[in-house]
Parts: sequence; structure tokens; C-alpha cells
Amino acid sequence: MIPLFLTCKYLIPYTYIYKKAVLIKKYLFKIKQMPNHDVSFTNEEKRVVIYSGSDKSTVPSKVTPDTPLEELNLNWREKDLPERERTKHVHRLHPYLGKFIPQLVEIFLRKYFHPGQTVCDPFSGSGTTLVQANELGINSVGSDISAFNVILTRAKITHYNLNIVNREILDILAKTAQATQPDANSDQPSLFLLEERKPKYATSNEEYLKQWFAPQALQELLVYRDQIHNYEYQDILRVILSRSARSARLTTHFDLDFPKAPQTEPYWCYKHSRTCIPITQAYPFLRRYSFDTIQRIEEFSALRTDATALVHHEDSRVAYIPPVDGVITSPPYVGLINYHEQHRYAYSLLGIEDKSEEEIGPAYRGTNQKAQDEYQIAIADVFRRVSHVMPAGGYLIVVASDKYGLYDKISQLCGVEVEAIINRHVNRRTGRRSNEFYESVFIWRKP
Ligand SMILES: C[S@@+](CC[C@H](N)C(=O)[O-])C[C@H]1O[C@@H](n2cnc3c(N)ncnc32)[C@H](O)[C@@H]1O
Repeated sequence: MIPLFLTCKYLIPYTYIYKKAVLIKKYLFKIKQMPNHDVSFTNEEKRVVIYSGSDKSTVPSKVTPDTPLEELNLNWREKDLPERERTKHVHRLHPYLGKFIPQLVEIFLRKYFHPGQTVCDPFSGSGTTLVQANELGINSVGSDISAFNVILTRAKITHYNLNIVNREILDILAKTAQATQPDANSDQPSLFLLEERKPKYATSNEEYLKQWFAPQALQELLVYRDQIHNYEYQDILRVILSRSARSARLTTHFDLDFPKAPQTEPYWCYKHSRTCIPITQAYPFLRRYSFDTIQRIEEFSALRTDATALVHHEDSRVAYIPPVDGVITSPPYVGLINYHEQHRYAYSLLGIEDKSEEEIGPAYRGTNQKAQDEYQIAIADVFRRVSHVMPAGGYLIVVASDKYGLYDKISQLCGVEVEAIINRHVNRRTGRRSNEFYESVFIWRKP
């Protein structure tokens, strides 16, 4: 017989601890069961049973039109496809949430397209399909409702004169240094922007900018921004500016994707396990990303072909789409991301057009039944329009996480034949997230 006071004070915690212990034991047992249990797995990979088999993941360059779909294994582990390959050359010009990995696109380009054909991506985002198509000599056309995404895509696919683009990137950087760094020849960033050096034109009334940047960081960004119009390759300079602005915001290091409020005081940083202080300067980022961009452009220019790549800033429900041979795309998910909002700093700095009202399935509209119904109609609308300009037998490859089971109806609404659906684990590389995440590759054919 346990006294009542003991039940309250000790028994409940004891039951709790016991249950936890059983769970941990089960979890350890599950890991031991995995035949391929390997110390080089990430924490997440150790939890995902899909990686326990001996099947090797597909090597994109080996895929041909004859590779059977059943042979494709799209569940790459970190060691199969390390980050430096997923973010090769221009794919890492700027962070972008919701991008698909280039190797997935490469596989389906190799399987269903050949050089000289044209692929369409009606939700082209950061331009992954267009860049990969160009590498393989396949023409491409894309559209996106977010102006910043279109700038980013254009910056990636532009066929640069390397001498000119390198000279321009270094010239605007040097001029920004002269205007904002007391000792422009020193590698050490200055601590103060001298009052008399503040250019008259570098002021901003925009509330967002004043709120999210320290005064000196904002001055440096504005000085850079106000010179961009002097150069030929303006999009690549806008991308360097935006990437630097993203890093220079008054945010914590561990919440760069969705910061809630400006961080103006020192804080405990979960990423670095120490106290960190908010960023006060943008120039060091402008400098670092300028050199990184030059290198990435050079790497891609050694691989690129003369295939054409065009991107339009338009709503795909109404955009003009030229004749194309097929589609590879990943549509926005329902109620998950506000695509304009994720680059709010770029919209504020660059003063570019905001069409967030025309986004399909934005997070702010939620995931209720009405949002799901509208989403299905809108996505089907886009695919119906693209399939009109495709030949019979052409393929539409659609990568989506179909959490709400919406894509069966979408395929019916747009009148395509479902040839196959491949599910793949999305390896999120860090062990921080507890839930496993899967997405589907829908392989549809125009009848
Ligand atoms: C999942 S992302 C695409 C990511 C892309 N596959 C990549 O690798 O970067 C979906 C994209 O659809 C765009 N989008 C949303 N509504 C749109 C619309 N009505 N017309 C065109 N694009 C739209 C968003 O701006 C976003 O860039």
C-alpha cells in the first residue's frame, strides 16, 4: 500500500521515467536491427529504416532513357550525396527554402528528355530545373510569382562574359569599401561609419530596414544598392546584396529562416553553444559573398551549354507558355511557406514588386478544406495549361509532399495518365528534427 502523498510526489515521476526508459530501449534496439548500421550515418539516417537495406542510391550521371523506374533509388544518404555536391556551383548563390536537389532533376532530365528539347518549370523558384537542363543541353522555360526568385534564377542562368562580371563585382565592392570603411585597404572591418562619409543618397525611410539592420550595416547595404544601376550585370549584384543582407540582419544565428523579432542584445546561441552578439556590419558579408559568387559563376561557366533558358515573373495560371516537350517541377505546398516573406529583406532593399496575393497555397491561407480545394484547382489549372502546349506522350514530373492526399484529384483534373509514383525520404541532414519527412515524385504522361 503506497501512502497518498507518495503517489503524488514520487509515483508519477517514477512512471514517467519508466516509460521513457522503455522507449529508449526500443529505439536502441531498432538501430541495432539495421544491418547497415554505420557510424558515418547522420542522426536522422540512423532512425530511418529505409537506409538499412543494401541497395545503392542512384548515381544521376549513369541514368539513361532505358533505366527502368524500378531501379531508381532516390534515398540518398549524406555520404552518397554530400552537401558540397547538392549545392554545387550556382545552386548555392543564395539560400532558398523549398529548393529541390539538382541531382533529382538531373535523373528525370536524363530519363525523359534529350538535348535540344525544351523542359518547362511553371514554379521555377530558385531555378534548379533551368540550371540542370542547361548543363545537359536541354532548353528550358520557367515562371515564378516571386520577383526575387526570378532575379535569382536570371543571375544563375545568364551567360556571362567572365572578365566583365568579375570586374563589376570587384568594382562595386571597392567603391562600397571606399565609401563606408575608414581604412579600405585593411582586412579588418571598421568599427564606425564616419558621419562625414555617409552618402546623402544612402538613407531609407523604410521601417523594415531600420528595424532589422544595425545602422552601419544598413548604410553599407544602401551604398552598395545605390550603385547597382551603374553596371551591366545587375541581377548578380542584387543577389550578392540580398545574400549579405540576409546574413547581416539583426537575427540570432540559429533562426535565419524565420526570425520573429529583431535581436538587438547579446544572446545564448544554440548553434555555437556560446553567447553571441547581433551583427553590426554588412561589408564583411559583401566581401565574402563577392568572392564566393565569382568562384561559383566560373565553375558553372565551365559546365554550361548554349541551350536557352528563359524565366518570367508571372502567375503560371495566366502566363504565356511556348511549346515545350515536358515538365519538371516542384509546386508550392499547401499552407507551408510564404515565398515572398522568406526574402522580405530583399523586397525591402531592392524595392521589387510584391505579388504575394497571387501565390498558390501560401502559409498564411492555412491548410483547411477551403485552402486545399483552392490549391487543387489552381495547381491543376497550371498543369492543364502546360499540357496543352506539349506533344501527346510528353512527361510531367511533379515533386511534392502530398501530406493531404491532393495529387490524385489534381491528376484527374488536369487529365493526365499516372505512370508511376516514387516515394522518397527527404534527408534533412541534421538530427534536430524528430519526424521523418517523405515526398513523392509523380510521373504523369499526357495521353
Ligand atoms: C517549391 S518552390 C519551387 C522550388 C524550385 N523547384 C527550386 O528548386 O528552387 C514553389 C515556387 O512556386 C512559386 N509560386 C507560387 N505560386 C505561384 C504562381 N501562382 N505562379 C508561379 N509561381 C508560383 C513560389 O514563388 C515558389 O518559388
